[in-house]
Amino acid sequence: MIGVHHPPRQRGIFITVEGIEGVGKSTQVKLIADYLRSRDQSVVETREPGGTVVGELIREVVLNKVPAKMAPTTELLLMFAARAEHLDKVIYPALAAGHCVVSDRFTDASYAYQGAGRGIAQSRIAILEDYVQGNLRPDLTLLLDAPVDIALARANHRGVVNRFEEDEDLRFFEAVREGYLELARIYRDRFRVVDATQPIGKLMDQIRGYLTPLLP
Ligand code: TYD
Repeated sequence: MIGVHHPPRQRGIFITVEGIEGVGKSTQVKLIADYLRSRDQSVVETREPGGTVVGELIREVVLNKVPAKMAPTTELLLMFAARAEHLDKVIYPALAAGHCVVSDRFTDASYAYQGAGRGIAQSRIAILEDYVQGNLRPDLTLLLDAPVDIALARANHRGVVNRFEEDEDLRFFEAVREGYLELARIYRDRFRVVDATQPIGKLMDQIRGYLTPLLP
């Protein structure tokens, strides 16, 4: 495909961490990266939307309050625009150099939020996924799962609210959570669902158990 760069071969391990707000993804991303480093892996930690200069600017547009409501398709395309940049500048080069990439969210978030949450057909998202990523998919996706009320209470406690947290009601996040769980049922090979309400030590033990088989 003209203009879309896909690496010939994927060498590093690509791990994504998903879940609704407040389930503790950013903490787990750090702990996962530390664990991988302790196993002699070089690790790139990153996040979506963002992870690049252009991506962080798109993040501002999509997450911070803009004076007008955005059409769901606009939101979806911005997520994929940020992702195209993220792949080009961060993910492909890191994987090609043999690094592990640990990303706080990736395309499953588009299926869950713009698909299950906003109601965009999964088949439309799949077209963008194929266009932007070719056949690149994560090697492992950890879905941190928690009931919506518990997760949102934690997110609110953090004090910073983005456009989703401010504008959407519980039903939106219920739909997003269900969307994620449905993806985990469909893509059983790469998804692992972990209970985000268990004590952090137990959670990390479980996650380590999922990481170890991927390591050399
Ligand atoms: P962020 O502040 O990173 O939330 P968290 O710390 O909980 O991960 O905000 C990311 C937001 O972007 C989150 O509300 C989900 C949303 N999002 C999408 O709607 N679609 C996407 O494809 C991605 C990557 C994120």
